[in-house]
Amino acid sequence: MKAGIIGTGHYAPEKVLTNADMEKIVDTSDEWIRTRTGIEERRIAHDNEDTSDMAFKAAEQALEEAEITGEDLDLILVATVTPDQPFPTVSCKLQERLGATKAAAMDISAACAGFMYGVITAKQFIETGAYQHVLIIGADKLSKITDWTDRNTCVLFGDGAGAAVMGPVSEDKGVLSFELGADGSGGKHLEQNDDYIFMNGREVFKFAVRQMPESSVHVVEKAGYAKEDVDYLIPHQANIRIMEAARQRLGIEEDRMAVNVNKYGNTSAASIPIALSEGVKNDKIKDNDLVVLVGFGGGLTWGAVALKWGK
Ligand code: UT7
Repeated sequence: MKAGIIGTGHYAPEKVLTNADMEKIVDTSDEWIRTRTGIEERRIAHDNEDTSDMAFKAAEQALEEAEITGEDLDLILVATVTPDQPFPTVSCKLQERLGATKAAAMDISAACAGFMYGVITAKQFIETGAYQHVLIIGADKLSKITDWTDRNTCVLFGDGAGAAVMGPVSEDKGVLSFELGADGSGGKHLEQNDDYIFMNGREVFKFAVRQMPESSVHVVEKAGYAKEDVDYLIPHQANIRIMEAARQRLGIEEDRMAVNVNKYGNTSAASIPIALSEGVKNDKIKDNDLVVLVGFGGGLTWGAVALKWGK
């Protein structure tokens, strides 16, 4: 039995904060932000729009694309570091709102790599035959833990949610290989201190430019393919320079990498599933494509997956 992605969805709040807006908040410039990160604007959730509200909208779209309803779900996994509250979890809130009466529900905390941890957790349940349909959502409202006086971090982040439904697929499709990892010794470089995000950008950058290319190559090789066989690369959208390092290491052309960091900034756990959902909707991802998802984040954590697209 193989586990694959059979539906995707995404949601980003309406309110746009451009680099010009950021210039009015902290001592920064559009030029600095664009050249150092690739970000042009980000979306910010309304005060009364919380992580579960964004997650719900992305989830509804993914269920529709998968042609199932909440009642068909066996498990809901929500990757987030900004839940509405510690408990009840975001996944439990969705269990109710989606009418997922037979689903178990839990949140996963692995920062920006959370969606990758979710996909691999879902794969185990599906491939053992324990569960049929698992909904995985990456959703974060980083704006509520952003220090809006710290130019080192506040220009980087945005809010949003992305979702995927996983289920059994045919033998030649679905997840082919994966890699998950953690290095707690690097946790101090990216953490929530008191109320806000603290980041040692240079250290995280060094880790990421090494990890993303390495993990991408590992999963492709583990799947029995060559680097140039990759049809579509979906890296965590943190910084275009880090993403480019992964693309160049695989040696694939520019149009084979998902880029939306310019529109949304770094949306944490939501970044990979938003890019995945957009790739499906824009026909960038087609049946039988070899797709690589790769992410890294606070913890430190990382994860990568190689999969053959389709049911
Ligand atoms: O999901 C994972 C989350 N984190 C990441 O992926 C972040 C990884 N790191 C990065 O993306 C980059 O390190 C940054 C974009 C954060 C910074 O880029 P950098 O090229 O590594 O810049 P830097 O840290 O070397 O700083 C260069 C200068 C510094 O000034 P001095 O000390 O050289 O005088 C900063 O103070 O840029 C300054 N700076 C800014 N200037 C204008 C830092 N933030 C800003 C800003 N506007 N917003």
